[in-house]
Amino acid sequence: MEQQTWDMDFLHPEVQQEYQDCIMVLVEKLRQFAEQQQAELHRELVSQIAWRLKSEQSILAKLRRKKREKTNDNIYRYINDLAGIRVVCLYLDDVDRVRAFLEKLPGIRVLKIKDFIKKPKNSGYQSLHMQVQFPNMRKVEIQIRTMGMDYWSVMEHELQYKKKSKIGRSLHKELLACASDMRRMDERMQNMRRLLDKQHRENTE
Ligand code: GTP
Ligand code: MG
Repeated sequence: MEQQTWDMDFLHPEVQQEYQDCIMVLVEKLRQFAEQQQAELHRELVSQIAWRLKSEQSILAKLRRKKREKTNDNIYRYINDLAGIRVVCLYLDDVDRVRAFLEKLPGIRVLKIKDFIKKPKNSGYQSLHMQVQFPNMRKVEIQIRTMGMDYWSVMEHELQYKKKSKIGRSLHKELLACASDMRRMDERMQNMRRLLDKQHRENTE
């Protein structure tokens, strides 16, 4: 009988540490950027930065979902969010600021951008996902979103995401409606801020 051996080297402390180091480098850069922007714009840009390493359990679940065998090769090839960072911004245009910062950041390469803000998922989910790679080939997925998008995604996850019993059609429609209400709110907040910025500029000219 052939046996499939599986040494999950992503769980080796050294490999975990490598991912952890990549996360911390990025988190530190993002913190510095947020602080520098705060000083420049005289307001908060980022309300929260969170990070995590994917648990063994979710790695296995994702491989199963993707119908891939449990091999290290498949983990590195198909699971791009072993290391994940979430940046929660105040305004819609702050998401673009963070994105532009990461695109220009030396030392990492942007491999992929999924813009679920421009084109939300069927669920209504909105967020900007950036996949970046370090010179040691380790990848990190960064999710950038507004507080509104974060609120929606936490609530939607709570109500249904990945749960075994699929929600009914009316609940799905209701969640979609909430997503578009949330988006409208993000736009209104941004419009108010822009108006205030404009007034402030006119008053100080
Ligand atoms: P690949 O990126 O192709 O590997 O698949 P994926 O399952 O990682 O999909 P994707 O990158 O589109 O989304 C990954 C993450 O986005 C998830 O782990 C969630 O954090 C978030 N996400 C995606 N879709 C939804 C959704 O419908 N609702 C919520 N609440 N979160 C979502
Ligand atoms: Mg992903």
